[in-house]
Amino acid sequence: MHTLDEVNKEKLPKHIAIIMDGNGRWAKQRGKLRVFGHENGVEAVRNTVENCAKLQIQCLTLYAFSTENWNRPKVEVQTLMKLLVASLRKELETLNKNNIRLKAIGKIDSLPQKAQKELSEVISKTSKNTGMILTLALSYGSRDEIKSAIKEISTKVKNNIISPENIDEAVINTHLYTHFLPDVDLLIRTSGEHRISNFLLWQIAYAELYFIDVFWPDFREHHLVEAILSYQNRERRFGKTSEQLN
Ligand code: IPE
Ligand code: IPE
Ligand code: MG
Repeated sequence: MHTLDEVNKEKLPKHIAIIMDGNGRWAKQRGKLRVFGHENGVEAVRNTVENCAKLQIQCLTLYAFSTENWNRPKVEVQTLMKLLVASLRKELETLNKNNIRLKAIGKIDSLPQKAQKELSEVISKTSKNTGMILTLALSYGSRDEIKSAIKEISTKVKNNIISPENIDEAVINTHLYTHFLPDVDLLIRTSGEHRISNFLLWQIAYAELYFIDVFWPDFREHHLVEAILSYQNRERRFGKTSEQLN
């Protein structure tokens, strides 16, 4: 089984993003309700955050709840929100101990009041930390994010704050929820599904994609290391030829 010390520290992905998928199926396999899977997914989050911090990964972004997930049964949505509040409360100390700064992206104002309050509290109480940036994507949808950016930019054009010829990629970047993050280097999705599900469409333009069959509650150190080793063995050409890179 792979361990953290196998990772080449010289070639770390700056930004890892994870689509944490498969909680429901994990529970179903055990003859339990879907929410049991979510409860057990929390341990995988804790483990992954801690391992990424140990590796000194600069940014870790976790897809926790999508704009489309609001369409799930009400009890499931409620359980997910409760778990969020409980986890934030419980993990504050560990985040500080590991020098981790918490951030959130998505339509945060659509979350229940309690979740918003807990979130902003943990964000402010970890804001002075200087280690890894841990970003939770909550009520996040990439199309929604791009739509909001376009709205903001067009308003600025209308008010003569920006002229259309000055709209470049950097301007677009600064209007995305992720303005404080670099592009994604490595995108991991668990559960065997091979899709993006409206996650960071703009930011993964040149990300390396890694799909793994394990369900999220089972994701541990050796899976993370496997993903990073795979990333480290790839040649990222960014449109150039292999010869140009060497
Ligand atoms: C991921 O697991 C967690 C969330 C989307 C909140 P799922 O709940 O999607 O589990 P599956 O994919 O149905 O197994
Ligand atoms: C994506 O998983 C969202 C999160 C992991 C939070 P889903 O389970 O909602 O994605 P689809 O619907 O299977 O594409
Ligand atoms: Mg799913």
